[in-house]
Amino acid sequence: MAQLFPRPGTLLGFCLLLFTLASAQVAEIERASNASLLWGPYRPNLYFGVRPRIPKSLMGGLLWTRVEDYSSVQTTFRHTCEQHELDGYGWDEYDVRTGGRQTIHDPANRIDITTEFVKFPGGEHGGSWGVRVRGTPREDASPDLKTTVIWYNTLEGLGSLEAEGDVGETGADGDVVLKGQTVELGDFDVRVTEGTGQHPRPQHPSYDEKPLDLTLVQSAQVPDDALWQTKAVLFAHIKSQIDILLPKYGEDNPPPPAQMYTIEHKPGRGNLHLVQKVFEGAFEFDVLYSSASAPEPVTSADLAQQIKSVTSGFASRFSDVFKPQAPFLRERYDEFAKSLFSNLIGGIGYFYGDSRVDRSHDAAYEEDNEGFWEEAAEARGRNPAQLEGPSELFTSIPSRPFFPRGFLWDEGFHLLPVIDWDVDLTLDIIKSWFKLMDEDGWIGREQILGAEARSKVPEQFQVQYPHYANPPTLFMVITSFLDKLDAQKTDSSNQKVLSEGSYSMQLSSRQAALEYLRTLYPLLKRQYFWFRKTQAGDIKSYDREAFSSKEGYRWRGRTPQHILTSGLDDYPRAQPPHPGELHIDLISWVGMMTRSIKRIAIYLGEEEDASEFAKYEEAIMRNIDDLHWSDKAKTYCDATINDYEENALVCHKGYISLFPFLVGLVEKDSPRLGAILDLIGDEEELWSPYGLRSLSKSDEFYHTEEDYWRGPIWMNINYLAVSQLLTIAQQTGPHQSKATHLYTDLRTNLVNTVYESWKETGFAWEQYNPETGKGQRTQHFTGWTSLVVKIMSMPDLSGGKGKGKVGEKGRGRDEL
Ligand SMILES: *[C@@H]1O[C@H](CO)[C@@H](O)[C@H](O)[C@H]1NC(C)=O
Repeated sequence: MAQLFPRPGTLLGFCLLLFTLASAQVAEIERASNASLLWGPYRPNLYFGVRPRIPKSLMGGLLWTRVEDYSSVQTTFRHTCEQHELDGYGWDEYDVRTGGRQTIHDPANRIDITTEFVKFPGGEHGGSWGVRVRGTPREDASPDLKTTVIWYNTLEGLGSLEAEGDVGETGADGDVVLKGQTVELGDFDVRVTEGTGQHPRPQHPSYDEKPLDLTLVQSAQVPDDALWQTKAVLFAHIKSQIDILLPKYGEDNPPPPAQMYTIEHKPGRGNLHLVQKVFEGAFEFDVLYSSASAPEPVTSADLAQQIKSVTSGFASRFSDVFKPQAPFLRERYDEFAKSLFSNLIGGIGYFYGDSRVDRSHDAAYEEDNEGFWEEAAEARGRNPAQLEGPSELFTSIPSRPFFPRGFLWDEGFHLLPVIDWDVDLTLDIIKSWFKLMDEDGWIGREQILGAEARSKVPEQFQVQYPHYANPPTLFMVITSFLDKLDAQKTDSSNQKVLSEGSYSMQLSSRQAALEYLRTLYPLLKRQYFWFRKTQAGDIKSYDREAFSSKEGYRWRGRTPQHILTSGLDDYPRAQPPHPGELHIDLISWVGMMTRSIKRIAIYLGEEEDASEFAKYEEAIMRNIDDLHWSDKAKTYCDATINDYEENALVCHKGYISLFPFLVGLVEKDSPRLGAILDLIGDEEELWSPYGLRSLSKSDEFYHTEEDYWRGPIWMNINYLAVSQLLTIAQQTGPHQSKATHLYTDLRTNLVNTVYESWKETGFAWEQYNPETGKGQRTQHFTGWTSLVVKIMSMPDLSGGKGKGKVGEKGRGRDEL
C-alpha cells in the first residue's frame, strides 16, 4: 500500500494523492465524453445518414420516393442533399451528445419526413442509438399516396454483417434484424422495425411474388468504393428487376409503379443491405442499433422515451446558453434560433479518405516575379498532384447540399457559437484540424477527403497547395476558450467535481485545460511561424517607411481576378498583381494570431515565447498604421508598387478596409476609429438596412463581375463588426455613443435579415442582397450564417428606445 500510494502523512503526499485521483477522474470523463461523440448523423451530405467516428465501419442511410407514376421515380428518389428540390429541411433541434429531430418538406413527393435520432450511452463500444422515421402526407397528396422507403446499412473494412433469422420467402413479416461485428464496435445488431402504416393492396399478379405488406431485404457484396454510391447500386439493381418483370407481364400489363420499383428479396450476408418498405399514406418505423456491450438492447419504447427526454433537455439547455435579448424575445424567434444552431451542429461530419496535394518545389510557386500568376498557372498545369493520406477530419460544414466538407476559415466562425454550447466538442474539432497539419505547419484550406467528397468538387479545385494559406480563424476560437477559462472561478485545489455531460470538462478542470493547451501549443506555434514565413511580404526592397522592416504580409495564390486564399475571393485588389503587394487583411489576421498565441504562452508560463510574441505584436500594430493607413482616403488599404517603383496604396472601401478593426486591433481611443465608424455607418458606403455591404456602394467595382464579395452581405464579417462595435460601446471613450447606436441598429438589422429570408424560404443563405435583403447563392447555408444565434444573445444596448418597432423590420441610419 505504502509503495503504491504516497503516504498521506505529508502535505506533498496528500496533494499527489489528490492529483492522481483527479487524473483518473479526468481520464474517465474524457472517455465518456469521447464515447458520447462516437455515433452521429456524421454524413451531412445525406438527408439522413449515420456513421461512427471510425474510418471504415458501419454506415446507414435513408432513401425515399413517391411511386405513383413511372416517369418521376428516377428524379424524386431522395438521398444526397441537393439544392432547390425541397421546401426546407434540417434539424429543428439537435445536440451532438444526445440527438434531435429533423423535418424534411418534400413537395414533389407530397410528403414530409421526420427523422428523430437519439443516442443511448453505455457499454464499452460507444453505446447504442435509434432513429424513428415518420412520413406524413402533405395536404395536396392523394389519399392513397404511395411511398417507397429504403433504409440501408453498409460495412467497410473488416467485420461481418448478416440478415438474421426467419426473413421469409417473399419478404419479411415483422422486424428485420442485421447482425454484425467489427473490432471497434464489437457485436451489434440493427433492427428495422415493422412499424405502422398501410401498404398498397394487390392490384396485379406480380404482387404474389413480392407482397407489399412485407419488408424486402437485399443483401449483397459490392466493392468497397461502390458503398458510398448506394443510390447508383440501387438503381442498377432495380433496373435488373424491371428487366425481368416487363417481359414476364408484357408492356401492356406492367406492374404498377409501387410494385415495379422494388428490390429482389434476397437476405443474407454482405457488405450492403437494402431494406425496403412500401407504404400507402402515413407511416412510421424505427431503426434500432444495439451494441452488445450495452446493458440492454434498444426497443421502440426506449426510443420513444429517449426522444421525449432529449427534446425537453434541448429546449431548456438552449434557452440557458443562447438566451435571446431584446428585441428578439418573441416566441417566433425561438424556433428560428433553434433551427439555425441545430443545423450548425447537426452539420458536423466525420470524413475519412485521401486527398490531392501538389508538393512540387516549383520556383514559380514563390510568386516572386512580375507576371508571377501566369508562371504559377503554368506550373500548376505541369506539376502532377499526389494522393496523400488517408486522413480523418471531424468538422462542421458550411452547407450540406453544396459544401459538405471541411473549410478551414469557415470552421473558426462555426466554432464560435459551438464553443458556447459544448467546449469539449469544440476542442476536439480544433484538435482534429491541427492533426491535419504537415511538418512545415501547413493545413490545407479545403479538405476534400475521399472519393465521395471529391465527387462534389470540380477537378480544377480539388488539388491543395502547401504554399497557400487561409485566414487562421481557429485562433479566434482558442481566444474564446481562454476568455471562458478566465471567466471561470479558479479552484486552487483542482478538485472541482466534474459531472458527466457537462460538456465542459476542459473548463471545469484547470488541469485538463492546461493539458489540452500544452499539447496544442507546439502545433499552434508551428502554424504561426509557417504563416510568417510563407506569406511574408517584401518591405525592404522597396524603401518602404515603416516601424518594422519585417511585419508585412502578402497572400500567395493570387491571380488578377481572385485571392481565393484570402477567403474574400473576388474583392478588388491592386491591378495588375505585383510581388511587392502587402495585404491589409492578412497582416490583421497575423496580428490577431500573434495576440492569441501570446496569451497562450503567458498561460503556460512560456515567458520567453511570450515576450517574443509581444515584440511581433507591437511591430504589427505599428506597421498596420505605417504601411496601410491612407490619410487621404481615411481608411486602411492594401499596398502595392506603382509604375515608378514606389509604394502606393490601393483603397477599395469595404470589408478589407475594416480588417484591423474587425479582428480587434483598433483600440477605443485610436485616432482612426472615428473614420472607421463613419465608413461603417455611411449609407453611401457600407451601411445598408440589412447589414454591412462587403464593398462600398460608391466603389467602382460595386456589384460587378462575379459580385461575390463586391457588395453582398456576409454574416461572418458582420458578426466580427457587431462584436467589435459592442466592445467599443461597452467602454468609456470618445466614440462610445456612436458605437452604441451602430451596434444596436446593425444587430437588429442582421438578425431580421436572416430571419425574414428564413421565414419566407425555409432556408438560411450564403449571403444577402444589400438592396432587397433577400438570401442568395447557396441555399441551406447553415455554417457561419448561424452566427445570428450568437448575435441574438448579445446584450440590448438600446435602452428601450424604439421598443415595439425595432425588430419588426430593418432600418436605415437616417431613421435613428
Ligand atoms: C475516441 O473514440 C474513437 C472511436 O472509438 C477512438 O478511435 C479514439 O481513440 C478515442 N479517443 C480517445 C482520446 O479516447
